[in-house]
Amino acid sequence: MILHRVARFADIPENRGLEVKIEDSKILLLKVGDQLRAYQGECPHAGAPLAEGALCNGRLTCPWHKAQFRIEDGGLCEPPALDSLKRYPLEVRDGEVWVGDQPLVDAHTPPADDERTFVIVGAGAAGTAAAAALREKGFGGRVLLIDRENAAGYDRTVLSKFVISGETPPDDVPTLRDEAFYKEQRIERINADVVSLDSTHRTLRLSDGQSLDYDAVLLATGGTPKTLELPGADLPQVFVLRSRDHAQRILKSAKPGQRAVIIGDSFIAMESASSLRQYGLDVTVLARQPVPFAKQFGETVGKAILALHQANGVVFSTEGEATQIEGVNKVDAVRLDNGQRLPADLVLVGIGVSPATGAFTDLPKEKDHSLCVDGGMRVTDGLWAAGDIVTFPLNGQRVRIEHWRLAQQQARIAAANMLGGDEHYLDVPYFWTWHFGKNYDYLGHAEAWDEVEFKGDPFNPPFIGLFGKNGVVTAAVACDEERTMAMLAERMKQPLSVDEGWRLIRG
Ligand SMILES: Cc1cc2nc3c(=O)[nH]c(=O)nc-3n(C[C@H](O)[C@H](O)[C@H](O)COP(=O)(O)OP(=O)(O)OC[C@H]3O[C@@H](n4cnc5c(N)ncnc54)[C@H](O)[C@@H]3O)c2cc1C
Ligand code: FES
Repeated sequence: MILHRVARFADIPENRGLEVKIEDSKILLLKVGDQLRAYQGECPHAGAPLAEGALCNGRLTCPWHKAQFRIEDGGLCEPPALDSLKRYPLEVRDGEVWVGDQPLVDAHTPPADDERTFVIVGAGAAGTAAAAALREKGFGGRVLLIDRENAAGYDRTVLSKFVISGETPPDDVPTLRDEAFYKEQRIERINADVVSLDSTHRTLRLSDGQSLDYDAVLLATGGTPKTLELPGADLPQVFVLRSRDHAQRILKSAKPGQRAVIIGDSFIAMESASSLRQYGLDVTVLARQPVPFAKQFGETVGKAILALHQANGVVFSTEGEATQIEGVNKVDAVRLDNGQRLPADLVLVGIGVSPATGAFTDLPKEKDHSLCVDGGMRVTDGLWAAGDIVTFPLNGQRVRIEHWRLAQQQARIAAANMLGGDEHYLDVPYFWTWHFGKNYDYLGHAEAWDEVEFKGDPFNPPFIGLFGKNGVVTAAVACDEERTMAMLAERMKQPLSVDEGWRLIRG
């Protein structure tokens, strides 16, 4: 290991990190009181430049998807990163900062010193995060990670953004963990469908007839895309998008110059509209509401995103409901209840998901088939659940939220509690969505607000909007305001007055 002179101590700012380079490696220098730390410069999740993140309350928040790390030691606090930051040796000599070119080794596979078997059903966002968290938190017993998808454990969020736009080939979708990780951490992956669960006797059954006993189980089976009960809905070019396999099938069918009709204006529907348009298809979105995302982002931002789509050639129609998909052996058109006929070569149905809980017949369910968990993600003795399948308590309400980072946060809480902890969800829900090269960030979960104000113009980003109720910030939406949103991700954990919110934003 060789030490390299990378900066002068006096050049390192107090309130943000400084990125330096040792050959091709980016290193982040951070001040911790009168000391310094050197960490990897790019976020272990998807490579964001961490020097552009926010430092607040002893945490560094990633500018892109708001993973959080302890400033003191780089330890992982919040996903979607699943790793702590690699730390580099550092010395200060005569006001100059010297950093080693090799990270400090941090081996932490717990010894196999526990007789228990923990099973995780579903190896998506939540399941994979839980498996990693169990080992990170020192569990030495067996961890079985079961999924019906052969190559589960990948980044589902890129499917609608970069895969069906043709930018990322389906086989290059990032995996959440590589094979070496599962091997090293003794996480046993099983490719199977879980068909039933007996929570009293703590067993579950797989589609091949095999039974598995467990000491604790985490259910993280995600959502099943809703389909349409329409004549023609079974034609081969009618798609949904949840898995890599779905994306692959869409790409096999879609050809530039073809016509796509997207039914629904969900986030996945609108992201798919953007991607298929970029892939060269003519795209019509058939929606029920005149402004997409108005419920979540408010009318102004919804209209701005709609305008972005329209400026890029997406046709947005709210004039009728689909009643039939016409065609013989292949899609020809979508017929509407007002008699209109939309010619189509492919149809993508993006009308939301239902919790995938069909196998868990002996568990009590909410009306929408989700599982009801307490604040610690516990369903009943020995059984926890996380992600898209749960209804959980948030700020005095019971809600079900389909966000990637939240699913992983819930999974980490469940993992801690499976090990005897008493953790609860105390954070601010966060998600992002991507349209024609623009990333929109959303923090909070506001179902109603009595004030909304913007800095900047939603029709011409950058902008940031704060939603308030009774003088308190309930949500924030932004585009190209990454550091500010990273700071708010931390500050909104405690009640934040709208006035204080604007003071922080305006600096
Ligand atoms: C195309 C797309 C784009 C998205 N983009 C974003 C985004 O930009 N930002 C954001 O915050 N959220 C986004 N989401 C939502 C986000 O992906 C979900 O909220 C998140 O994946 C939920 O995690 P989960 O672990 O609950 O479910 P999943 O990640 O879906 O994992 C569930 C797993 O369980 C498996 N499974 C289901 N039933 C069984 C069974 N009976 N037996 C065995 N295995 C089973 C499934 O095969 C699957 O692998 C997107 C979703 C999609 C589909
Ligand atoms: S790149 Fe840091 S959280 Fe995604």
